[in-house]
Amino acid sequence: MIRRFRRLRASPEMRSLVRETRLAREQLTLPLFVAPGSGYRTEVASMPGVFRESVDRIVEHAKRAFDQGIVSVILFGLPESKDAEGRSALDPSGVVPRALEALAKAVPGLLRIADLCFCEYTNHGHCGPLDARGVVQNDVTTNLLGAQARVLADAGASVIAPSGMMDGMVSAIRSALDQGRHHDIPILSYAAKMASGFYGPFRDAADSTPSFGDRRGYQMDPANGDEAIREVEADLAEGADCVMVKPALPCLDLIRRIKDQFQVPTAAYQVSGEYAMIKAAAARGWLDHDRVMEESLISIRRAGADFILTYFAEAMAAKLPH
Ligand code: PBG
Repeated sequence: MIRRFRRLRASPEMRSLVRETRLAREQLTLPLFVAPGSGYRTEVASMPGVFRESVDRIVEHAKRAFDQGIVSVILFGLPESKDAEGRSALDPSGVVPRALEALAKAVPGLLRIADLCFCEYTNHGHCGPLDARGVVQNDVTTNLLGAQARVLADAGASVIAPSGMMDGMVSAIRSALDQGRHHDIPILSYAAKMASGFYGPFRDAADSTPSFGDRRGYQMDPANGDEAIREVEADLAEGADCVMVKPALPCLDLIRRIKDQFQVPTAAYQVSGEYAMIKAAAARGWLDHDRVMEESLISIRRAGADFILTYFAEAMAAKLPH
């Protein structure tokens, strides 16, 4: 007997009846880049459709996204000044705290995820202060991350998302938040974050390319899967409420392993390079933009991601049926 799989593929209605994976607007988190000044909005060259925006423009942008059904944004800062210690990361009147305050007022229903890292604030572009050899100091950095988390939580962050891959960062941040009476603010840990070439365009956008060396001393070797499981296990033990895998398409196997093993809310970050790749090929007519956008996002969901941080959030939301 022939097994006739095609019976269930014969019409759009039949296909939608048996579709296993769906994508909803609430599963898409929009990344935003907050710049100083006002009335400022400039497109990132390597990321068409992605902008660096001053706080007033961020608010307008977030409102539009929220009206489309997007319920969360993640904020990255482009500070006015950088130094070796990344001091501007702790400034309560810095661009990200100001954006958090403005968003809380203007779009209260929108979840404000604050990325937590020092690489946007240090003049050398590494994710924390360096020792004499030029190596990021782990325990100094975790303390600073705790302080930065307090500043962002005080300013109105709904979720704190540490992305620096320092050991012990989650417990340091949890205690700092609790000491600041922010017991209710969850931590979304970038638990399995690879030292990936796919972050290239982001570093353009955030002006955070390391001035020397690379991040292989703290981010994970993309060759390692078992280690990703151990990273997630450690972050959960330290108090992470949800975890993230990054990048997304190169790590579909890890999303699935983590989801199967821990059954915790698991996010995936479809990063700048994944976005740029699709944009560039589509611009040349080599790929169908909308099809590939949707297929990449549904594949990340199928692998097990509960929600996806993606620069396609608005474009995808615009295509989803109501
Ligand atoms: C900050 C951070 C990075 C990204 C998210 N948070 C850059 C990096 O680790 O170099 C990358 C996101 C993207 O590529 O879209 N540490």
